[in-house]
This record gives sequence, C-alpha cells and structure tokens, in this order.
Amino acid sequence: MGKRIGWIGLGRMGEAMAKRLIKAGNEVSVWNRTASKAAPLAEYGASIVGSKQDLASCDIVFTMVSTTDDLKQVLFGEGGLVAGTARPKVVVDSSSISQEGSAEIRTRLEAMGVGYLCSPVSGNAKVAKAGKLLQVASGPKALYTEVEPYLQAMARKVMWVGEGELARIWKIAHNTMFGVIIQNLCEITVLAEKAGIPRHIFLESINDSVLGSMYTRYKTPMLTNLTFDQVTFTPKLLLKDMDLGLGAARAHGVAMPAAAATRESVARLVGRGHEDIDFAVLLVETAKDAGLELTSENMKMSDGLEA
Ligand SMILES: NC(=O)c1ccc[n+]([C@@H]2O[C@H](COP(=O)([O-])OP(=O)(O)OC[C@H]3O[C@@H](n4cnc5c(N)ncnc54)[C@H](OP(=O)(O)O)[C@@H]3O)[C@@H](O)[C@H]2O)c1
Repeated sequence: MGKRIGWIGLGRMGEAMAKRLIKAGNEVSVWNRTASKAAPLAEYGASIVGSKQDLASCDIVFTMVSTTDDLKQVLFGEGGLVAGTARPKVVVDSSSISQEGSAEIRTRLEAMGVGYLCSPVSGNAKVAKAGKLLQVASGPKALYTEVEPYLQAMARKVMWVGEGELARIWKIAHNTMFGVIIQNLCEITVLAEKAGIPRHIFLESINDSVLGSMYTRYKTPMLTNLTFDQVTFTPKLLLKDMDLGLGAARAHGVAMPAAAATRESVARLVGRGHEDIDFAVLLVETAKDAGLELTSENMKMSDGLEA
C-alpha cells in the first residue's frame, strides 16, 4: 500500500486495529498518551514516536481516542497533530464521537488542507483482533477510495455511507441498539434464571433462535461466568454513546423511548461506581433489582466469534 502511516490512541481498540495494519505489511508509527501502552507494539514492527507532531509528516494518521473533546485535544490542543507547521495529508478517525463535533473538526482540518474521513467501527477489541470488524466511513468519496485498502486491512467489511459526518450517525444508531440489546438481554436472562432456567441454557437457546447474533454470542461467556474483569467496553463509554444517541434523536426530532430508558439504566451503573469493568456487569445490577444474587456457572465456552 506504500503510504506513511501514523496512529494515535492505543487503547483496547486502537491497539488491536493498529496491529492489524502492521501485520498487513504497513510501516506504522504510533503514539499513545500513556507511553507504556505503545512500547509493546515495537515488537510487532511499529515505530514508537515521542510526540503527536512526530506523525505530522505521515500521509495518513489514524486516530482512536475516547470522546469528541479528546479527539479535538489530540489534533488541535497543545502539541496536537496539526498544531505545528507540518501536517499529514489525511486524518482518519474511528472514535465514536458526535456528529456536530465531527463537523467542527472537518471544518478546521479542511481549512488547513488536511483531508478527513470518519470511519467508526462495529466490534470490540477481540473482534478487531480476529479481523472481524465492520468499518463504516463517510467523507469525500475520492478520499474513501484512497484509504479503503487500509480499512480493509483492519476489517472483514468496509462500507462508505455518504458525505460528511454520516458515518457518525451510523455509529450512534448502532451503539444505541447495542445498549438497548444488552439492557433487554440482561432483563430477560434474569427473568429466566429467577423462574428456574440455568443462565447458560437460556443464553444458548437465545443464541440459537432468530434473535441470536454475534453480539449475544460473544457476550454469553461473560454473562454465564460473570467475568466482567475481562473488559471489552466500559459503562462510562456506553453512557457516552447513549447520550450521543439521545442528542442525535433530539437534533433530528426522533422519539427513542427504549434508548431513553436504557440511558438511565446505564447512568445508574456508572453512578454505582462501575468503572474499569465490562458494561455487561449490568446483568448483576439487574439481578439485584430482582432480589437475585448471581453466581458464576463456571462453564468452559468459546468466545462466540467463530460464527
Ligand atoms: N471497546 C469497544 O468495544 C469499542 C468498540 C467500537 C468503538 N469503540 C469506541 O472507540 C473509542 C476507543 O475505545 P476503547 O475501548 O479503545 O477505549 P480505551 O481503551 O479507553 O482507549 C482510549 C484511548 O484514547 C486515548 N485517549 C483518551 N483521551 C485522550 C486524550 N485526551 N489525549 C490523548 N489520548 C487520549 C487513551 O490514551 P491513554 O492510554 O493514555 O488513556 C487510549 O489510547 C471510543 O470512542 C469507543 O466508544 C469502542
């Protein structure tokens, strides 16, 4: 593919995605705020850089950080990627951020002559590691065509959904459903268990029904064995996405009652102090609300990604 590639943000997702780019034969220079998370990538052949501006001479810089404000900070803040005189040709961002924030970032980058593609993803870090992400993009079609081979190196499928920030709306809609599904899955699993069906049997039956999905399958081992310390996504990040969903619903005049109820449930989870833990801990809280104390079923299970 031949371009000079930079990467900012090596959290759960960024690390897995950057590794796939490197494994596909690209030369990738990486930066992470917490330097210790970047160091292990050297073993895979990445160049570790000491500052974001060291990536300004790259053709394409990928970013994967937490929120809209974090993305603004790594781009435009002190020592930011485009805060100096040198600038990359293109920024491709995969963080889950707001449509308005993304539009503001586009205006600023394009005014500097930097191309900008939004490219959020569906799938957690395990999915990314297995090369099974869905990567959706929006922005200028010609830019998408240029970047597409790199996206393909990280995903099982890539799609362009249109101009501007449309991929942000796609991701916001996607994650609103992501929240609503886990909320309902926890509710019905607690209902089934309280009524007498063992959790793994109930979840196996849902997974094999018309309602089963890659998502319900890969959450099943965690919901069965209560291994919430194997974090894929935190309650705080899910709350951010439910708020993005309801913000977009207000902006576009769409009523979303199921999303609104889920947002409050996730806010309660965050309020109860669940921080460095997987969002599926919602199951335990839902059970407590039903007067049920859950225990691990200690089942040996696959990661649900083979389907
Ligand atoms: N996890 C998932 O399943 C999943 C799936 C799809 C999309 N997403 C989205 O992908 C994004 C990343 O998620 P994640 O799970 O990878 O989160 P994460 O593990 O918490 O990683 C966040 C990354 O962003 C960096 N970061 C955050 N704020 C920063 C700032 N102000 N300046 C510089 N670096 C900053 C962090 O640096 P440090 O290491 O220094 O903290 C870290 O590298 C989020 O927008 C999330 O909603 C997540």
